Amino acid sequence: MKIYISDILDKPQFNDLLVLVQQVEKLKTKTNLDYIKLTLSDKSGVLEGKIWDKAIGLCDKAEVGDIVKITGKVDSTYASKPQLIISSLSNTKSDAGIFSEISIDRSDFYKESKIPLEERKARTFKFIDMIKNDQLRDMLNDIFKDEKYKTYFTFPAAVSMHHAYVGGLSQHVLEMLDLGVYLSNKFDYVNLDIVLAGILMHDFAKIWEFEEVQQGVFKYSVLGNLHGHIFMGANFVKENAPKYGIDDETLIRLIHVVLSHHGKKEWGSPVAPKTLEARIVHRVDVMSEELRSIDDAIESRSQDIEKIQILEEYYYFGFVNNDSLELEKHQTEEEILEN
Ligand SMILES: [Fe+2]
Ligand SMILES: [Fe+2]
Repeated sequence: MKIYISDILDKPQFNDLLVLVQQVEKLKTKTNLDYIKLTLSDKSGVLEGKIWDKAIGLCDKAEVGDIVKITGKVDSTYASKPQLIISSLSNTKSDAGIFSEISIDRSDFYKESKIPLEERKARTFKFIDMIKNDQLRDMLNDIFKDEKYKTYFTFPAAVSMHHAYVGGLSQHVLEMLDLGVYLSNKFDYVNLDIVLAGILMHDFAKIWEFEEVQQGVFKYSVLGNLHGHIFMGANFVKENAPKYGIDDETLIRLIHVVLSHHGKKEWGSPVAPKTLEARIVHRVDVMSEELRSIDDAIESRSQDIEKIQILEEYYYFGFVNNDSLELEKHQTEEEILEN
């Protein structure tokens, strides 16, 4: 039976765990000893593994995108998250003999959005349909239907931090659209078209900011490092708009939302939000990032307190007990029936 990362977290050690190598860093300790830090994944989660000095010689070389078989210990002494201390590693690439009998399905080795692809697509187009401005709606329909940009539905929203899984980008945008529509309805002077189009375009350029090195493994591209998704996204909107005859005011307001969505210059936005719509988009962006990160951490939790990277804070999950929540629900239902 195949074991997954989630199966071993509460055990002291593990044998023959198959994982995908997401990142490799060669580092040195303060005392000048070599060690290797690996980011490893399967569909149940992501974890850090370390190969210390002496064990390096006992391990095959691992590169980003390789599927490796590892044995070692689980170190739970850090409150942030357990780590794997790897004592041996064999690379499925370098020793085909041992691994020829194991059939490897790469989709077992990375996380994917829980919302199926077709549902994410259908929901995205429903929101586009809500846009009243004909030119704006036509542009967005064309962009999201264009085969050239189809990675929008399979890319993550980030390489780590939040929604860092296949389909995470479109899931993040759907969460924002739900929140954005809800909030816009609470206030009198919101232009919903700008909120919807702004959310749909705010992170669109992540399809160029990242590249898929191998199935399920993403990294920053050269354009991502040198231009970034905010400039590329604003520029993309500006280049496309004239073909549809979008009026100047709408274009200025939409580009402002894309440029300001990170909220502050020190967070990467060249301008701060200066319209009601831009403020809403910035707020729902942060909400989706933060709340999904906590929610995902609850699901993959292995201890009561874990550090949420994006919030730079430890969160307590000790109150979360799926069994007792179920029980309470049943008891209440029974009580209702009895009465
Ligand atoms: Fe962004
Ligand atoms: Fe975002």
